[in-house]
Amino acid sequence: MTKIAIIIGSTRPGRNGEAVARWVHDIAAKRQDAEFELVDLKDFGLPHLDEVMPAAMGEYSYPHTRAWAATVDSFDGYVFVTPEYNHSTSGALKNAIDFLYAEWNNKAAGFVSYGSAGGTRAVEHLRLVMGELQVADVRAQVALSLFTDFEHFSVLNPAAHQEDAVTAMLDQVVAWGEALRPLRQ
Ligand SMILES: Cc1cc2nc3c(=O)[nH]c(=O)nc-3n(C[C@H](O)[C@H](O)[C@H](O)COP(=O)(O)O)c2cc1C
Repeated sequence: MTKIAIIIGSTRPGRNGEAVARWVHDIAAKRQDAEFELVDLKDFGLPHLDEVMPAAMGEYSYPHTRAWAATVDSFDGYVFVTPEYNHSTSGALKNAIDFLYAEWNNKAAGFVSYGSAGGTRAVEHLRLVMGELQVADVRAQVALSLFTDFEHFSVLNPAAHQEDAVTAMLDQVVAWGEALRPLRQ
């Protein structure tokens, strides 16, 4: 069975990211075509990148890197749930991505972003990063507005059409995650 991680890209106390990721997971869990798992960066306690060798060498020195690598490696695709911080993704998510290389290769990815402009600028940056990691990022994406999909900028209450957007994005992530399997073997 195809396995897709829904990665919570914010570690900030009081973050909106956890509610967004749980909402995505609730929608995904109704599907029969893949297994979906929440992956919370907070659970990995990654420091700022502290590996001596570049990730592409695959020589991981620390238990925290190996634990993160084993988790990322176990999935066929990813949904990155990202906030927009200063027109980009969070430092925590970029740092976690930078720790690894081969574990990301030939996988599929989709994005769920949130911010005053739907977090779309964070996703544009992430798409550039995906290219370097040989991740196939799908076109369909979910952009949640802090003004119309949250109450008081802090309580998630997505507009009705957003569930359809999640479904369209997941359709593509599952399809590409499966299609790329021969390259991973
Ligand atoms: C450091 C920082 C920078 C931010 N920069 C932007 C921004 O450039 N554009 C935007 O739309 N929202 C911006 N915001 C608002 C966040 O998108 C919003 O607070 C969101 O809930 C943050 O995600 P989180 O709660 O999961 O951490 C910023 C928030 C923080 C904390």
